[in-house]
Amino acid sequence: MKVAVLGAAGGIGQALSLLLKTQLPAGSELSLYDVAPVVPGVAVDLSHIPTDVKVTGFGKDDLASALVGSDIVLIPAGVPRKPGMDRSDLFNMNAGIVKNLVEGVADNCPDACVGIITNPVNTTVPIAAEVLKQKGVYNKQKLFGVTTLDVIRSEAFVAELRGLNPANVTVPVIGGHSGTTILPLLSQVEGVEFTEQEIKDLTHRIQNAGTEVVEAKAGGGSATLSMGQAAARFCLSLVKGLQGEDTIECTYVEGPGDNAKFFAQPVRLGKKGAEEILSYGELSAFEQKCMDDMLEGLKGDIQKGIDFAS
Ligand code: NAD
Ligand code: LMR
Repeated sequence: MKVAVLGAAGGIGQALSLLLKTQLPAGSELSLYDVAPVVPGVAVDLSHIPTDVKVTGFGKDDLASALVGSDIVLIPAGVPRKPGMDRSDLFNMNAGIVKNLVEGVADNCPDACVGIITNPVNTTVPIAAEVLKQKGVYNKQKLFGVTTLDVIRSEAFVAELRGLNPANVTVPVIGGHSGTTILPLLSQVEGVEFTEQEIKDLTHRIQNAGTEVVEAKAGGGSATLSMGQAAARFCLSLVKGLQGEDTIECTYVEGPGDNAKFFAQPVRLGKKGAEEILSYGELSAFEQKCMDDMLEGLKGDIQKGIDFAS
C-alpha cells in the first residue's frame, strides 16, 4: 500500500503520519507532502522509527512525485478554525486548496481512494467530486469525507457517561460533519439505555465537540491528535478493505441520495473502496426530527461546493 498524506506537516498531518508509520502493514510506503518547508524534516524524523514502512517527504513543487502510485490519498491540508468561527468560515481559504490538490490526484493517481479531512467537509467533498468529474476520473466508490472523529468522540462520551470500556462501544454517526448535520444514533447503542435528557445532552455535546476543542485551544487551532487517531482508524480500515478483508466505517460518501447527494452513513469498505452503502436502520422520533431539521442546511453546503467547482 502506498498512502499519501497532503498537509503532512500540520497538526493532523504529523499525528496521522506517526500513527500510519507505526501501524500500516509491513512493506507499505508513506508519502508526505506539504507546502511548509519542514516536511522533509518530518519525513526524516519518522524514518528513524524502526518499522517496515518507507517514509518520503515532498516539498511544495513535488506534488506529482508524492502522488504517483498512491493507493490512498488523505487530505488534511488547509486552515483550521479559531474561536468564534464556524467550519463554513473556512470555505474561502480551503476550497481552493482542496481543488488544487484533487486536480493533482486526478493527474497522478486517478485510481486512488481519496479521504478528505479539510473543512468544511460537507462542502470540500462535493468540490473534490466535481474536480474529479471534470477530469473524467470520478469514481464515487473512491471518494470519502472522513467523519470518523464524530464516531470516536461518540464512543468516548458514551463510555465516559456509563463507565464502560470504550473499546466495547459502537455508535453510528450519520449526516455530515458540522453542527446539527452531525447525527449520532444513540438509540442504536447496544446494551445502553439513555433518558430523553441524556440523549439531548449527549447529542449536543457530540455536535459541538469540535468547538469544545477549538475553545480549549484558545486560538491555537482545532482537534489534531484525536483527528490523527480518527483518520488513522479510517485509513487502516480502508487498507484492510482494499486488501480483501471487508470492514465497516461511517463515512461521508455519494450514496443513493435518499437524504442528500452526499451523506455519512455506515459503508462496507472492500477491494473497490466503498463496496456497499449500508442501511442505518430505524431512527428514533428524536433522531428523525434532528434529520428533518438539518437536511436543508446539508444540501445547501453540498450545493455550495458544486457551484464553486463549476
Ligand atoms: P494545521 O494548520 O496544523 O495544518 C495544515 C497544514 O496544511 C499545514 O502544514 C500547511 O502548511 C498545509 N497546507 C496548507 N496549504 C497546503 C497546500 N496547498 N498543499 C499542501 N499542504 C498545505 O491544521 P490542522 O489542525 O492539521 O487542520 C487541517 C484541516 O483539517 C483544517 O481545515 C481543519 O478544519 C480540518 N479538520 C477536519 C476534521 C474532520 O473531522 N474532518 C477534524 C479536525 C480538523
Ligand atoms: C472537529 O470536529 O474537531 C473538526 O471539524 C475541527 C473543527 O473546526 O471543529
